[in-house]
Amino acid sequence: MLASAAIARAAGQEPLPPVHIAYLKYCGGCHGIQGVSAPKTIPTLKNEAGRFLCTDDGRRYLVRLPNIARAPVSDELLADLLNFVVFGLGGASVPAGAPRYDATEVSALRRQPLTNRLDVYRQRILTEVRTAGCG
Ligand code: HEC
Repeated sequence: MLASAAIARAAGQEPLPPVHIAYLKYCGGCHGIQGVSAPKTIPTLKNEAGRFLCTDDGRRYLVRLPNIARAPVSDELLADLLNFVVFGLGGASVPAGAPRYDATEVSALRRQPLTNRLDVYRQRILTEVRTAGCG
């Protein structure tokens, strides 16, 4: 944190907000700094992540993904991180009127991380999201 603030100051830029730093630290290595990743096995978040908010299970799925549920950040920062990914990177893919995540919702869901056959569960969630009219 201190180092990145110092680098930003030296470069004459504003330091990145904590949520952006957390994304780069815990997520960007796989998903890419702008939510687009090279390997096909890692889903694109840019203009896509928001569609999961089309269904309740889709909304819950995002918090329960092990890489998200177990990220070493507080409930508050995790809620910010999800909002950054969904409403920021996800852009136009977010259904109209979808509420933002908050610490209370995230705190309960991250205690139930998904474990078995994540790929199968993801396909089910995506089918439900499409049936509900999103992406
Ligand atoms: C080790 C690589 C890796 C890291 C680190 C990682 N993810 Fe992922 N992410 C994946 C993969 C792979 C999937 C697809 C589901 C699965 O198989 O886990 C995924 C799924 C997702 C999804 C749902 C998109 C979809 O189409 O299913 C979101 C949103 C997401 N990750 C956000 C994050 C955030 C936020 C972080 C940081 C806290 C993070 N990821 C860290 C690899 C990663």
